[in-house]
Amino acid sequence: MDKNKVIFFDTTLRDGEQVPGCQLNTVEKIEVAKALEALGVDVIEAGFPVSSPGDFLSVVEISKAVREPVICALTRAVKKDIEVAAEALQYAERKRIHTGIGTSPWHIQYKIRTTPEEIIKRAVDAVKYARKFTDDVEFYAEDAGRSDNEYLARVTEAVINAGATVVNIPDTTGYCLPEEYGRKIRYLMENVPNIDRAILSTHCHNDLGMATANTMMGLINGARQAEVTINGIGERAGNTSLEEVAMIIKSHHDLNLATAIRPKLIFSTSRLVSTLMSMPVQPNKAIVGRNAFAHSSGIHQDGVLKKRENYEIIDPKEVGVRESSIILTARSGRAALNHRLEALGIELGKEELDEIYHRFLMLADKKKEINDEDIRILSGEVFRGEKRLKLESLQVLCGNSVMPVATVGIRVNGEVHTSTAPGNGPIDAAFTAVKHLIHQNVHLEEFLIQAITRGSDDMGKVHIQVEHAGNIYYGFSANTDIVTASVEAFIDAISKIDNERKDTL
Ligand code: KIV
Ligand code: ZN
Repeated sequence: MDKNKVIFFDTTLRDGEQVPGCQLNTVEKIEVAKALEALGVDVIEAGFPVSSPGDFLSVVEISKAVREPVICALTRAVKKDIEVAAEALQYAERKRIHTGIGTSPWHIQYKIRTTPEEIIKRAVDAVKYARKFTDDVEFYAEDAGRSDNEYLARVTEAVINAGATVVNIPDTTGYCLPEEYGRKIRYLMENVPNIDRAILSTHCHNDLGMATANTMMGLINGARQAEVTINGIGERAGNTSLEEVAMIIKSHHDLNLATAIRPKLIFSTSRLVSTLMSMPVQPNKAIVGRNAFAHSSGIHQDGVLKKRENYEIIDPKEVGVRESSIILTARSGRAALNHRLEALGIELGKEELDEIYHRFLMLADKKKEINDEDIRILSGEVFRGEKRLKLESLQVLCGNSVMPVATVGIRVNGEVHTSTAPGNGPIDAAFTAVKHLIHQNVHLEEFLIQAITRGSDDMGKVHIQVEHAGNIYYGFSANTDIVTASVEAFIDAISKIDNERKDTL
């Protein structure tokens, strides 16, 4: 094996699945395991078979369904656990038993309530017993992060002599500083006499947000296996995330490390795990978060549009994300808006762009994000030009204890006319006031308010059909205020009557 190859040991289905509410059934676990196989992970920790019949069955079925990676099962340093794990792994093409025991003063004294020497004996016995079932045995020194390095070196030497081929050094509580964890791995590399017969593995938790940094320091100092999960899920604050370690190694050639991970499948695997486990990915999560390749400030947008590398160190396509996104907000500049308009096939001259940008800023002040639909509406308004009839002002009084009343001001050929009317609701009152000002004899035929799907600050869209003298006229408007959108759409429809017959007011 290439001595710089980092073995990716994925424990999404074991440590990741321990998260409350994230439990998967066997069929779902097989789906994740197949995705991990396609992604190129070397070892899949499929479960802890003695813990439940469901976990046992999942390890059996994953062993049958997935042939490429090594299938691993977790045990305590207990004979019964090891026997059950071996039975669950019977169909695996390549199998590993992962056994272990606590080695920190905390675990020895308060959890296991024994002596350091007894721990070494139990560790050695467990490894020897596991070796009866497979040649591939990994030993974990639980809470190694808080274990004394000299003692850890003695444990490591003993389990390697007993037949362990991988020794896992978990920072179970996520306590270590990166430099401290790196030093621990280096210490073992330099002080365990038989270390050349085994691989050291990192297994870091994220309680202080240092899981990835610690893993990298472990690899830099000689570990050659990284235990990781998709999206960094896992107990408490989670485990080291696979995608971060894979992309750090890929981005930093100077580390001279290699992996078998196929980065293009990172994003789809992330979303599969997130969906099946009902565990949303935080928007700012490195590599796979919704915002990982999204740019929202005007300066960054301008820079990215000039050259992506100005603000991105990874091409989103490399990890299976279609493209970087330019999020249009009140902080976006003309360049970003124009870029989006062009992507939507809308070509504008300088004056039109100025006009749409002005409208865009007004809308962006009311809405957090401007989407493609909003842009189409804004550009439609610009192309339609100045209207002859225009809603100038609208004031509505409504609620559950007052009679709704609306005051509407309409600009007709430059002059503003105002009317006030009551109604059975705010829209009815406003429409009545409009009719007082313009057409008495229009009838509302259809009135459609398009559902708001994105959030309460989204634009509401209103489609209206009115009947006048046997003809149907259509009106449309969109606004973050649904009453305003309705009145604008009503006026839009009526203005079309006026285009044919100038009999208003
Ligand atoms: O965090 C840990 O110590 C573990 C071991 C069981 C490997 O998950
Ligand atoms: Zn763990």
